[in-house]
Amino acid sequence: MFQNNWQDLEQKLFLKTFSRVPVTLVRGQGVWVWDDQGKQYLDFVGGWAVDSLGHCPPVVVEALEKQARTLIQASNQFYTIPQIELAQLLVQNSCLDRVFFCNSGAEANEGAVKLARRYGKLRLNGAYEIITTYSSFHGRTLAMTAATGQSKFQEPYIPLPNGFVNIEYNNVEAVKQVSTDKTCGIILEPIQGEGGVNVPDDSYLKEVEKWCREKGILFILDEIQTGIGRTGTLFAYEQYGVAPDIITLAKGLGSGVPIGAFLAKEHCSVFSPGEHGSTFGGNPLTCAAAHAALKFIIDNDIPGKVKQVGKYFMTKLEGLKQQFDFITQVRGRGLLIALEFSDEIAEEMVMACLGKGLLINKVKPNALRFMPPLIVTEKEVDEAVSILDKALFGIKAG
Ligand SMILES: Cc1ncc(COP(=O)(O)O)c(C=O)c1O
Repeated sequence: MFQNNWQDLEQKLFLKTFSRVPVTLVRGQGVWVWDDQGKQYLDFVGGWAVDSLGHCPPVVVEALEKQARTLIQASNQFYTIPQIELAQLLVQNSCLDRVFFCNSGAEANEGAVKLARRYGKLRLNGAYEIITTYSSFHGRTLAMTAATGQSKFQEPYIPLPNGFVNIEYNNVEAVKQVSTDKTCGIILEPIQGEGGVNVPDDSYLKEVEKWCREKGILFILDEIQTGIGRTGTLFAYEQYGVAPDIITLAKGLGSGVPIGAFLAKEHCSVFSPGEHGSTFGGNPLTCAAAHAALKFIIDNDIPGKVKQVGKYFMTKLEGLKQQFDFITQVRGRGLLIALEFSDEIAEEMVMACLGKGLLINKVKPNALRFMPPLIVTEKEVDEAVSILDKALFGIKAG
């Protein structure tokens, strides 16, 4: 099959939602992927921050194989063991007490919002409003489009569900200004991922948490992109000295296998049976895979390694910044890093790196985002930086 046949077929068959890079991936191993022509690439997109342990990690493959032969799906009408084991591991390693499993990030956030609204109804005199921030990203469902403070995602779908107030990120005064007796919670990303890898001031989350405690409203962190080791600790909230009431997870939780979850503290456990649910959420197959991935991540201190390699990568990128004056900023934490330019050259960089065997993500017209598997080595970082260097040189030379 010629490479373009797949891409022509895709053009005919799909609703036009994705602007895809012209490469058809067929295989992956570790930090590497191969296209249908046999060309090899270093993957610094990582399934959009999903492939925590790289492509086809043996520990996940083995868990999937074993569970696929044992029990794939049983429904939540019954108890099943893999979901209980995964819940236990999450609770033991976080400040949260209870878990709900679903299938994606948007679904996790929807569930968290429903839990916060239920809490508002029962404990806060019917408060239902949720504060979220500009440049955030919380998913593609209608309610999460309303939560996501970016007009480009919202405008095509107005009118949106109400009950969401979007305010400036990294501004605690803005939180105070819009909090009313209708507010039941605030949802923040510890670092905004899709919005451009925006790292807030160190004190921001702590101050927002303090305000939430004063007002009795729920402090909810969307750790869908930052969670499971991505920023150098298992959860990003650990680095900011806060203890959220609810967190949401997806992406890296299954190391490539689709799973979402939200976790809540005991005092937020306000659902009654039947008030929320999911057919596939918590199915034995994905939970066995996620349990194997999470256990490996914890047992092998992958977050600690992320901290180290992330620092190394940032230092190398700072080196490029010294070399190319059109690089304006290197920012991020762990292995969630952005490189910003003075001009809108991100697309050109993506294509130049593709040609040289490196996959990267354009997070804004003038910024790239790197989110490689958490197991990436310094040697692989060196290879990526060398390709970036050549691509930047090509752009500079015009
Ligand atoms: C912080 C954050 N929340 C929610 C989502 C939505 O996740 P999903 O695409 O799995 O619905 C994303 C996806 O990029 C995200 O980065």
